Amino acid sequence: MAPASSSTSSSITLNINGEKHHLSVDHRTTLLDALRERLDLTGTKKGCDQGQCGACTVLVDRRRVVSCLNLAVAAEGREITTIEGVAEGEDLHPVQQAFLDLDGYQCGYCTPGQICSAIAVIEEHAAGWPSAVTEDVGSPVLPPLTPDEIRERMSGNLCRCGAYVSIVQAVSRGAEAHGEARTATAEEAAA
Ligand code: FES
Ligand code: FES
Repeated sequence: MAPASSSTSSSITLNINGEKHHLSVDHRTTLLDALRERLDLTGTKKGCDQGQCGACTVLVDRRRVVSCLNLAVAAEGREITTIEGVAEGEDLHPVQQAFLDLDGYQCGYCTPGQICSAIAVIEEHAAGWPSAVTEDVGSPVLPPLTPDEIRERMSGNLCRCGAYVSIVQAVSRGAEAHGEARTATAEEAAA
């Protein structure tokens, strides 16, 4: 049996979609390979394997990362969310539903990464983070999540099928749903 830890491998626990997974990994194992090859979480896709396409995007502590450029050992103790974990039981995440309703895909290979990225984009925007195309970065009023903003913020996620028009619409619809949910929560809190 392999030792729990050595100079080249470690036993780690990854918290993925609310479940703990114990595994021994070579220190060079990427988070992407740990997810796909070791844990059978194949919803996260491998495209370029060098940080250029976004197909492998997952959420770590609610921030989007390209899992092909992150080591599994560095993800220990963090909250990892993959496409398998974004729905609430039988209810799809609003961004998933928007991609479905608006045909935000063709072959679907880039879609898990697009959806994970979009979920983070919507939260980043709602938190007031500016992008490279935000005109007034000092404005106290949240600028709208325009198609230009969406295109810029989603520019790390490539789609070889070119489904970009529908993807932008789906992210926009997902952002609307997110805003409505936030408003409803605030109203509930005030009631
Ligand atoms: S597979 Fe990670 S960015 Fe392309
Ligand atoms: S839907 Fe085919 S790569 Fe995006």
